[in-house]
Amino acid sequence: MKSIGIDLGTANTLVYVKGRGVALREPSVVAVEAKNRRVVAVGNEAKLMLGKTPGSIVAMRPLKDGVIAEFDITAAMLRHYFKKISGNTLFSRPKVIICIPYGVTEVERRAVEDVTLEAGAQSVALIEEPIAAAIGSGLRVDDARGCMIVDIGGGTTEVAVLSLGGIVLSKSLRIAGDELDEAIIGYIKRKHNILIGDVTAELLKKRIGSVHPAADRGAMTIQGRNLLNGLPATIAVSSAEIREAMSDQIEHIVESIRTTLENTPPELASDIYDTGIMLCGGGSMLAGLPLLLSRITGIRVVVAKAPIDSVAIGLGRIIESEGRLGGGVRYRTR
Ligand SMILES: Nc1ncnc2c1ncn2[C@@H]1O[C@H](COP(=O)(O)OP(=O)(O)OP(=O)(O)O)[C@@H](O)[C@H]1O
Ligand SMILES: [Mg+2]
Repeated sequence: MKSIGIDLGTANTLVYVKGRGVALREPSVVAVEAKNRRVVAVGNEAKLMLGKTPGSIVAMRPLKDGVIAEFDITAAMLRHYFKKISGNTLFSRPKVIICIPYGVTEVERRAVEDVTLEAGAQSVALIEEPIAAAIGSGLRVDDARGCMIVDIGGGTTEVAVLSLGGIVLSKSLRIAGDELDEAIIGYIKRKHNILIGDVTAELLKKRIGSVHPAADRGAMTIQGRNLLNGLPATIAVSSAEIREAMSDQIEHIVESIRTTLENTPPELASDIYDTGIMLCGGGSMLAGLPLLLSRITGIRVVVAKAPIDSVAIGLGRIIESEGRLGGGVRYRTR
């Protein structure tokens, strides 16, 4: 029986396999037949179909804002990944540690446990995501020193202050990468009268997105559909425009970090001033973000080495530590 850790994210699902490291990294996307919801493709293969599927097939994302929106589809996706990591060996049911965002409801927690067992796990344990993210980003969470981790994912931004292995306070915001993509689509529509798809919006964000003029990244040419005549159109979009498009959402993210700092007990706040703020999650790779945040907070800001892998790496360290890290992991069986 394998021990594995799962970062079930809104945008990406990662699996850490004990003794092997991060063994799977795929988008949380499933393509299904529209009429009977039979699964056609999962992960990378399904993501390529997003926005391009014929009417009979829909590519969907089974998680929204960090929580399960489509139970059966999520179970099918995990089942597929369990098979994939077990390769050609006879499939044995894994022992799973899986993350849940901080502050989710009891019903949402239960859904994550149930979906994991439904997908074929032998047993399941839940762990709060900010703890795994902090461990995986290299923070020493067991020390009697406060530290701050900010995880900007696809669906949620989680800001947490940790000390002595636990969460002292945390704020979860349902604004992250997905909302940035939506803001870009809205902006291009308003300003240029051109409709672009999710994939193009994400590409603009990754290639030329920046949140500070000192990190400007030029321009990019994209294709869309002119809303006035319905014809395909090509336009050049600048980094400054993308910055303007994302400004409201970025402001919310900055604000949640600022209020968390304000609510942090003074002793811990002074620790954070010494150690700095750690950023992880795909959204932390936005150009200029460390600069913007350090200007606003007056605190040093560092991006984790492998920001998309942080949670999975943290889960791995918890698994390999045989329960020393992560504050006592308790498994549930069906
Ligand atoms: N270079 C980049 N610049 C900006 N954003 C990026 C970059 N690379 C990835 N992203 C964004 O990061 C997000 C995915 O990050 P991540 O994999 O950490 O999310 P997730 O863990 O699946 O989501 P969540 O934790 O919210 O459930 C996507 O919105 C993606 O567009
Ligand atoms: Mg995440």
